[in-house]
Amino acid sequence: MDGIDAPTTDMTPWALVTGASAGIGEIFCRNLAKRGYHLVLVARRADRLHTLAEELRSKFGTASLVLPADLAEPGATRTIAQRLREEEIHVEFLVNNAGYGMSGRFTDFGWREHADFIQVMTTAVCELTHALLPAMQQRKKGYVINVASVAGLIPGTEGATLYGASKAFLISFSQSLALENYFHRVNISALCPGFTYSEFHDVSGTRELVNRLPSYMWLDADEVVRFGIESVVRPRPRVVAIPGRFYRMLVRVNRMFPGITRHILRKRSKDFRKLDRG
Ligand SMILES: NC(=O)c1ccc[n+]([C@@H]2O[C@H](COP(=O)([O-])OP(=O)(O)OC[C@H]3O[C@@H](n4cnc5c(N)ncnc54)[C@H](OP(=O)(O)O)[C@@H]3O)[C@@H](O)[C@H]2O)c1
Repeated sequence: MDGIDAPTTDMTPWALVTGASAGIGEIFCRNLAKRGYHLVLVARRADRLHTLAEELRSKFGTASLVLPADLAEPGATRTIAQRLREEEIHVEFLVNNAGYGMSGRFTDFGWREHADFIQVMTTAVCELTHALLPAMQQRKKGYVINVASVAGLIPGTEGATLYGASKAFLISFSQSLALENYFHRVNISALCPGFTYSEFHDVSGTRELVNRLPSYMWLDADEVVRFGIESVVRPRPRVVAIPGRFYRMLVRVNRMFPGITRHILRKRSKDFRKLDRG
């Protein structure tokens, strides 16, 4: 783990973003820096985090603490929390964003791969929130965005079996946390994007498939992030924040006519989920 890239003797608040090395997380960092936050940057690829830290310093005068970490490792969030204590950094804005998709059916993978996935997508999110929330409650100010997905709001698809389940977990977790923290003045949101331009589909090996989806199904990462931040900083936050008119409509249709979305997904999963590994 690396040190702070700029002096921090000021009273500027800190934000922590997991998955800061690419896609939605990287854009969160730029937007939060623009809003005057110093940044704790977490992901595995340290080189990318340092490049981003340097960009944030030169563009916005932001201090960054670069914490390279593999969130699949069970001790990773403890090490992060420990390092924050040592640096006396109080995080006011937490973005649990790190994530990925696994292409294939449930039994195509060994349990180790599933266990790592659950650790990154759910356990690490809970651990980090559990470590940072008490100080936010004490100060009566804080924001937590759990980057979920519209996949957590619609019926499960074939392939990427645990993905929708993990995102549904984050949504329910965020709803409970929002209720528990209302009087602490800590705002909680589950941000639920649909297909968003990032490196996600390159990592999951589905780029070729999803490139065939119509343009109205695609969101810009900047639009997703702006909607997410705006949703959580409002006096009455959107606890389940769905960026994009198409996806808000999809979720509404699913609530009213769940049979229709179940039918479409049964027929169409293979259009955007790679069902065979490799
Ligand atoms: N793109 C979409 O269509 C879409 C839609 C709905 C929701 N989402 C959600 O949005 C979030 C961000 O995804 P994205 O679209 O920005 O994808 P991305 O461009 O692939 O970025 C994923 C980020 O997560 C980090 N990450 C992955 N595994 C990690 C691990 N084991 N430890 C630490 N960091 C890890 C990656 O960093 P390193 O590789 O450097 O570790 C990277 O910074 C995810 O939670 C995803 O599920 C995405």
